[in-house]
Amino acid sequence: MADRGYLIAGNWKMNGNLESATELSSAIVGGASNILETVELLLCPPAVHLQATAAAISGTNVRLGGQDCHEAESGAFTGDISAEMLANMNCSYVIVGHSERRDAHHEGDALVWRKANAALRAGLAPIICVGETEQERLSGNAEEVVAKQLKASVPDGVDGSRLSVAYEPVWAIGSGRTPTEEEILSVHSAMRKALKDLLGHDAGDSIRLLYGGSVKPGNAAEILMLSEVDGALVGGASLSASDFLSIALAVK
Ligand code: PGA
Repeated sequence: MADRGYLIAGNWKMNGNLESATELSSAIVGGASNILETVELLLCPPAVHLQATAAAISGTNVRLGGQDCHEAESGAFTGDISAEMLANMNCSYVIVGHSERRDAHHEGDALVWRKANAALRAGLAPIICVGETEQERLSGNAEEVVAKQLKASVPDGVDGSRLSVAYEPVWAIGSGRTPTEEEILSVHSAMRKALKDLLGHDAGDSIRLLYGGSVKPGNAAEILMLSEVDGALVGGASLSASDFLSIALAVK
């Protein structure tokens, strides 16, 4: 098995202001010294706070990422941000295909594929989000839905070490509900198989598979110890430095 290490990513979504972004990132940097070396910490603030966050984490191992990017390098796209712009702000990652964008901005797999390619073009590591709705889970189709999303959104021939995939059941995001350990295991195994089928054994094996959806200090240890779980994409709990750090400390 590839030595994938862990990625604990905080998606701050549309929260905070300049002061709180600086405070939160400084507090995370201040508390990061006890975290295992195999655990990478990533902060994804709102785009307007990238610069302040970059300054607060400068010279540390904490990484910076964007929450989304446009597929083009530049142009007449009012309100959008390119992957190149994120790279220029010292980002090393970008989240693409989050269910909030798929839903509220009608983004489908084909666009997610183009955004993931744009990220690679700019030298960023994309984190592609996939996950089933509650209805799809209840119909017993979660594994199939996720494998289909992966097939349509993972860039062809990608170097697996530059890609992470986050399994985020739509019904678990921000709801306080999480799948059972068996359900996470089953979807993560299906994702690993789909990625190996798509990209070949070695590339498929080197992709980090994150779990996201109501990850908290209280459930992080049991989720992060599951095989095929290489990290977490954390929303609500990433807005508290102590909660975010406890989640990272739960990796044993
Ligand atoms: P949550 O969000 O941790 O608040 O459920 C996760 C996400 O949307 O990435």
